[in-house]
Amino acid sequence: MRVLVTAASRHGSTREIAAVIEQELQTMNFECDLKEPRDVESVEGYDAVIVGSAIYVGQWLGEARDLIERVGPAMKERKVWLFSSGLADTPSKDANNTPALLARMKATGALGHRHFPGKLDVLQLSLAERAAIMAARGKYGDSRDMAAVRDWARSIGESILDQRTISA
Ligand SMILES: Cc1cc2nc3c(=O)[nH]c(=O)nc-3n(C[C@H](O)[C@H](O)[C@H](O)COP(=O)(O)O)c2cc1C
Repeated sequence: MRVLVTAASRHGSTREIAAVIEQELQTMNFECDLKEPRDVESVEGYDAVIVGSAIYVGQWLGEARDLIERVGPAMKERKVWLFSSGLADTPSKDANNTPALLARMKATGALGHRHFPGKLDVLQLSLAERAAIMAARGKYGDSRDMAAVRDWARSIGESILDQRTISA
């Protein structure tokens, strides 16, 4: 069975989450492709699709939003899961755009969405980004929990195999 994993990332940490998801599914013998959202022209041939994005100022990155606009209708014919990566505290994930998330889930027929804590490395940020984080009193550091990412990927793999649906 073929699975597409694709995630939009500005500073690389969400891309690494996507790579862990891909690796976990490969250990379950899925045939996986890991692609940048801009490189996804079609989801033809995939049994399942996992789409993620880092969150900036309450929004998914444009590249991931564009992908849903372009390919969302075709995703509806497949099993789809979404994930977001952002800070769990400040800027608060409560500020993340719930109506947009619900619209995205409807557009893709997604079976679940998961928010993962991300990474904020001061050395990778532009001056404008540092100023935004300072204004929002954001905390620097790597909050990613790759064990939780692997567990989520495994639950998706099991769901695909069982032909069951889960609400992740
Ligand atoms: C300028 C800026 C704005 C951010 N805004 C949000 C936000 O609104 N909500 C959130 O949960 N995380 C926010 N974050 C945190 C990022 O989503 C987090 O650092 C993520 O792991 C970055 O992923 P990337 O390395 O793939 O770009 C922001 C980070 C920066 C630098």
